[in-house]
Amino acid sequence: MCGIVGAVSARNIVPVLLEGLTQLEYRGYDSAGMAVIDGGLKRLRSAGRVSALAALAGENNLNGNIGIAHTRWATHGAPSERNAHPHVSGGIAVVHNGIIENHQAIRTRLISRGYEFTSDTDSEVIAHLIHARLEHGDDLVGAVRATVSELEGAYAIAVLRDSDPHRMVVARMGVPLLLGVGAGENFAASDASALLQVTRNMIYLQDGDVAEITVRDLHISDAHGKPVERAVHVSEMSADAVGLGPYQHFMQKEIFEQPGAVANTLEMVVNAQSLSPELFGVGASAVLSKVDSVLILACGTSYHAGVVARYWIEAIAGIPCNVEIASEYRYRDPVPNPRALVVTISQSGETADTLAALELAKSLGHEFRLAICNVAESALVRASDLRFLTRAGPEIGVASTKAFTTQLTALVLLTLVLAKQRGRISTDRERTLLEAMRHLPAALSHVLLVEPLVKKWAGRFAKSEHALFLGRGIHYPIAMEGALKLKEISYVHAEAYPAGELKHGPLALVDRDMPVVAIAPGDALIEKLKSNMQEVRARGGELYVLADQNAHIEPSEGMHVIELPDHAGILSPILHTIPLQLLAYHAALVRGNDVDKPRNLAKSVTVE
Ligand code: G6P
Repeated sequence: MCGIVGAVSARNIVPVLLEGLTQLEYRGYDSAGMAVIDGGLKRLRSAGRVSALAALAGENNLNGNIGIAHTRWATHGAPSERNAHPHVSGGIAVVHNGIIENHQAIRTRLISRGYEFTSDTDSEVIAHLIHARLEHGDDLVGAVRATVSELEGAYAIAVLRDSDPHRMVVARMGVPLLLGVGAGENFAASDASALLQVTRNMIYLQDGDVAEITVRDLHISDAHGKPVERAVHVSEMSADAVGLGPYQHFMQKEIFEQPGAVANTLEMVVNAQSLSPELFGVGASAVLSKVDSVLILACGTSYHAGVVARYWIEAIAGIPCNVEIASEYRYRDPVPNPRALVVTISQSGETADTLAALELAKSLGHEFRLAICNVAESALVRASDLRFLTRAGPEIGVASTKAFTTQLTALVLLTLVLAKQRGRISTDRERTLLEAMRHLPAALSHVLLVEPLVKKWAGRFAKSEHALFLGRGIHYPIAMEGALKLKEISYVHAEAYPAGELKHGPLALVDRDMPVVAIAPGDALIEKLKSNMQEVRARGGELYVLADQNAHIEPSEGMHVIELPDHAGILSPILHTIPLQLLAYHAALVRGNDVDKPRNLAKSVTVE
């Protein structure tokens, strides 16, 4: 999972490539590189961030009218200069995002033909294969097409040839790649954010497409080699949406954008008196009325949104709901229920495991498929008949925040639609719930005001090596999300437990060095949770409680309490998420970590 950018222009494209890579760093940031043609192929690579590559490009006075560039998240081979892209073979340079599953067999074959490998990556085979095809007499496009036909796995590639300095060739299969159409210049990139600096006119390539790009022309051919026209979309993404504005970090910006992101996601229901199933796409009414259960498939934070939804769907809509981690589901032999609605949840819509899980569900005969996703043009949305687009705007911070709360918002709407179709909620109740949804952005703004209080707790967590997060019922997955956030960006080992399970194991861990976060909404389980909190206090554990006003929990020695200003009934899990995000953010800041780019992680996991 990496980011690629390419450019062909009459001007020096090095600054464009560097800016593009900077925007794509969310896809990977352990090494970077670029190749340009300037009287010959020139390649620079460095371990570390794009800023290191930019410094190198400056020192070397790198210049050129045509170039390709890459920011990497290591899969095959350590993050080092030798494994950074572009990979070269003779006068060929290639950048690659994806995974070549049959690289070992190709590598062995190429070595026996005399090719020498200088990296441990799967990607290097692509450069040598193209080189071999050129030796065979193919032109560059023909060589790329012949090469990709041998590859198994997923790829977006961009290729340069030093003896053909006016042409770049790109191809994609299974991972995103788009072209940017400029005035007298053309571009390619993994996503639109990399190209907003130069154009808004984007062409989304489809699987199997190969494109030849020059200053003047773009020639695209499909998987069968047939020339095709692909529509030009004018990107609505604003440059502001991918900039930091007044914030220090994208995660901070995205936490504070949540009221607006949720309001945008709710836009279609803001003035509605009642909910229509068609919110989920044309024909949704017929599909949703046929389903007898729900199967949710997702990864990471999106999986946690699914676990929350299970509580809503079963309690309010009254139909069974299963939630599975996509990377597990894809390799099980599940017993399919053809009447289940398969719901995939994904911020990016490009997560390889989620896409593969959806494929498996499809192959098992699941006909009813809904994607809840933040990226309209993503593979997941394209592969699903029903869809709901969360309107969080671009999420850049690796730790997901506004995507999560907008996913939860979408899942409440889904629950209510399912409940309504089954006669499980009265018109009055529907109206009251819609009213609560409309109040949600304001309620989120109120909760954000707890930041200074949470900040005071953060120092304690930053000093600790471990933390425990407790919740009960629908707030248990919120505890899971709180623990995940803390792990991801502060590197504090955090575990979430349903509080009732404490006595079956994790209580053994509790002592004065273990801060324990308790999510304490004023719901039916609050008295049970209070007993669990006593179990922690009795062992000297220090409690950090996020309580609703009506939970009636007073601070005392070893018991720190932050009261949330709004009580949101069924929407309570959404509100309780905010302080947990803030806690992770501030703990990571205290530890001096790179909040937006935590070590070893990446935003879009487009590989297995
Ligand atoms: C990565 C990200 C997480 C995200 C997960 C699923 O691990 O770092 O923040 O939750 O992928 O991504 P998706 O785009 O499918 O929601």
